[in-house]
Amino acid sequence: MSQITTKLTGVPRTMLYTMKTRADEQARPHPLFQDPLAAEWQKLLPMDEDMEAVYNDLAQISWSTRAYHYDRITSHHIANHPDPVVVELGSGLSTRFHRIGQDVKYWLDLDLPEVTDLRRQLDTETEQHQFISASVMDFDWMNAVPYVAPENILFIAEGLLMYLEENQVQQLVTQMQSRFLGASFVVDLMGNFGKLFRKVTIKIGSPHKWFVKNEKDLAAMGLQIVNVDSLYQLYPERWTFHLRLLWQFLTQFPYFRNAYLIVDARL
Ligand SMILES: C[S@@+](CC[C@H](N)C(=O)[O-])C[C@H]1O[C@@H](n2cnc3c(N)ncnc32)[C@H](O)[C@@H]1O
Repeated sequence: MSQITTKLTGVPRTMLYTMKTRADEQARPHPLFQDPLAAEWQKLLPMDEDMEAVYNDLAQISWSTRAYHYDRITSHHIANHPDPVVVELGSGLSTRFHRIGQDVKYWLDLDLPEVTDLRRQLDTETEQHQFISASVMDFDWMNAVPYVAPENILFIAEGLLMYLEENQVQQLVTQMQSRFLGASFVVDLMGNFGKLFRKVTIKIGSPHKWFVKNEKDLAAMGLQIVNVDSLYQLYPERWTFHLRLLWQFLTQFPYFRNAYLIVDARL
């Protein structure tokens, strides 16, 4: 297949960036995971110059580490539920279904139309693996979630909520709770530290909008917090010796501990 020309701008374009971090992970000497499909798709959908200019090792390790942590939470969910259903919100070109989703009953990848159109060119939709073309804020998407007891459902919002306004996140949580009470919802949250990078995100047309003090901001929306991890405390072996020591030191302080959180919550 020859390269695909895209006209992605704004937040949808950021999924080319996270896909590249996964594609590059497997070329590392000791990768956390293999992702041959991301490597294949990334060749067809390379990033443009603007995105290349802000791509670096820190981003590669951060976002592939995040992806690996979501993989582990998802595998645990699949192994411990009789009818596991996974719904990725703002899935981009996530290849998680192909990495770890074989034993799932249903897997839904939801993203905006311009992204889902790209997925349809690259991936094959089946009854088990369905694609939803919608904004997460257009709540009709909830009708597409297969009927199973909510405890079986894991909703994933990887790299999504910081692009929404706080009141939108609250509306989303309230609507999901009214439909899927008891389901799992795993999200990542950007702390106030992230505000330091606002200029860069504005420059590439995808400003972050929601920053948290800590996970209590999510709990205040009505979610039950099950587990919280600070991204920069996870998988220390994946960082260089000096950065490992730096994260170890800095994340003792709340401002840095809360810089980026992965939260496993219940609706
Ligand atoms: C940083 S990317 C993350 C993609 C993927 N989760 C990953 O980790 O590779 C953010 C994704 O959120 C999607 N997105 C942003 N706003 C959205 C909305 N309102 N509804 C659905 N998807 C949205 C974008 O199109 C993009 O694919």
